[in-house]
Amino acid sequence: MKNKNDYKNFISVLCTLNCLENSGGGAFQEQNKSEINLKSDITKLNNNIFSKPFVKWAGGKKQLLTQIESLIPSDFFQSSVTYIEPFVGGGAFLFYLLNKYPTIESAVINDINEDLITTYNIIKNKPLELISFLKQIQYEFYKLDEFEKQKRQRFNSKGLDDIENSAIFIFLNRTCFNGLYRVNSKGLFNVPFGKYTNPLICDEQTLLEDSKLLQKVEILNGDFSQTLDYLNNKTLFYLDPPYRPLTITSSFTSYSSERFDDNEQKRLCEFCNLINNNKQKFILSNSDPKNTNANDNFFDELYSNFNINRIYAKRAINSKGSKRGDISELLIDNFNSNFGEFYNA
Ligand SMILES: C[S@@+](CC[C@H](N)C(=O)[O-])C[C@H]1O[C@@H](n2cnc3c(N)ncnc32)[C@H](O)[C@@H]1O
Repeated sequence: MKNKNDYKNFISVLCTLNCLENSGGGAFQEQNKSEINLKSDITKLNNNIFSKPFVKWAGGKKQLLTQIESLIPSDFFQSSVTYIEPFVGGGAFLFYLLNKYPTIESAVINDINEDLITTYNIIKNKPLELISFLKQIQYEFYKLDEFEKQKRQRFNSKGLDDIENSAIFIFLNRTCFNGLYRVNSKGLFNVPFGKYTNPLICDEQTLLEDSKLLQKVEILNGDFSQTLDYLNNKTLFYLDPPYRPLTITSSFTSYSSERFDDNEQKRLCEFCNLINNNKQKFILSNSDPKNTNANDNFFDELYSNFNINRIYAKRAINSKGSKRGDISELLIDNFNSNFGEFYNA
């Protein structure tokens, strides 16, 4: 802290937050009515505004949306469809499809990350309370490491109510380095703070748009395998698991304390086989091992019964500028497969 005033301000922030913690936000709202004027009205949303992910997420698919979509035959969305995303993360493809295709009658999303899924649920069911809490945090946000540190400690103390947990989850996502979510072996969030001049902590419009779209979405928290129970007679699965690392050092698999190793990749392939046996569609993304080893046929062999497409993408997860660039990624689908042919023999 640079001077005494900063210190005084910081103490006032902490006191205010304590008020919040003890009162569920009520005392603070009363005290700061003029600053926190929640004008939002979910019914007044502009239909032309497209919703988008409310968090930055490692492996987010923002830049690949149209390439993934191009694998789907143009008439697929003409009649009603169930959409299932077992590794939803930030949900870039989910929000894109829900916006574009009203024939998606229902959707199911799942992720193993409990804080993320709590936040989806809060956005779906209590967006206004969340916006109110985030506005409080945004208002009090001083670019002091101490403020972020205090919020992170509180987040890692666990046991917060769902609205505060979701608000701090979003706050940390928008102020930490590259918006990563990474935990240590004890499951505690450990991403260093980023250096942003003016981070938008409360993106009210996006939260309200997302909330509107999430009304038809069933939200699950756990292993991807549980989503198989939700398939319908016309279902599309989009599977975007943690990527198989291209090199040992590029590994980024700590979205949760569970590792997603080659055995997990094989288990996921079995899951795709089950989708196919049930005569439903899937598209799966993964890294292309051939970027670093032309002889590595891991996915080519695993998914030899399906269509393996190679597309080009910029890598965002690598912090070193020199290592960013176009590399190929895999998009595997079963749109043209003869359902069941390979498994009933
Ligand atoms: C590559 S990210 C998904 C990115 C997402 N498509 C997006 O646009 O942001 C992979 C996700 O899988 C989740 N995950 C890891 N292991 C899982 C498991 N066994 N079952 C379900 N989700 C899992 C992680 O928490 C992470 O959010």
